[in-house]
Amino acid sequence: MIIVQISDFHIIPDGALAYEVADTIDALKKTINYINSLSTPPDVVIVTGDIADRGRKESYRLAQEILSQLKSPFYMIPGNHDHKDNLAEVFSNHQYLHNRVHENGVDYICYSVDDFPVRIIGLDTSTPGAHGGGLGDKRLQWLDGKLAENTKRPTMVFTHHPPFASGFGHMDLEPFVSRKEFRQIIEKHPHVERVSCGHIHRAASMQFGNTIATTCPGVGMQIPIYLSPAAPSEFTLEPPGFLAHYLHNIWEDNPKIITHVGTVADHAEQYSEYPFFDFVSPS
Ligand SMILES: [Fe+2]
Repeated sequence: MIIVQISDFHIIPDGALAYEVADTIDALKKTINYINSLSTPPDVVIVTGDIADRGRKESYRLAQEILSQLKSPFYMIPGNHDHKDNLAEVFSNHQYLHNRVHENGVDYICYSVDDFPVRIIGLDTSTPGAHGGGLGDKRLQWLDGKLAENTKRPTMVFTHHPPFASGFGHMDLEPFVSRKEFRQIIEKHPHVERVSCGHIHRAASMQFGNTIATTCPGVGMQIPIYLSPAAPSEFTLEPPGFLAHYLHNIWEDNPKIITHVGTVADHAEQYSEYPFFDFVSPS
């Protein structure tokens, strides 16, 4: 089974450039074309938030138009730039967006997808009005119960905010709320193969309890590798990227998930496939 993860589109209405320079609509179109062209198409695509830059319905309509070109089914979770109700209203055929956990006056989008060999859990870590994220008691309880429902199948938990500090100073100013409690729940459920997130617009991985937490590159823009508490809030226009999570049992008794990082090339020639014709063993 192949799960492709894409994240952080930051779509702006009317073809406008995000932050005056980023053509996020074009970036999303190129990404979807590229995913559709993969030799081994994904069984499912997961979008880990920041679909719209300012949560507007016009942005979701644009995103919907482009995402409808995907040949694979897709699921979404909201990020801190999203408006949960606008998202659910525009993507009205995505019923799971109405699965909510009520906590402190907010209805968080939390759901599981049980149709695949890998069980997928979408967990909403975004509180309206806040840039940082985390989890409260109700969502933690919900997660614990959900994970206990099926301990036989490998499971991936998708969130927008990562439960670790990235090393990018400006992103780390707001720690993930209740990351310790989140980690304790993950540790209780060793069938969780991965916690995979968005938000930091860069592929990264870190140990999290007894599993691995990963983040996905951005589609709309990337965050530079500036590993310092002094790193300012800036982005680059490197090509969009994605993650491909592949469940297999090659060399293993039990199926495990390998995560690859892909880059969306600008020109078709860059992702044409060329043979290695000088295949020799080193002497
Ligand atoms: Fe983002």
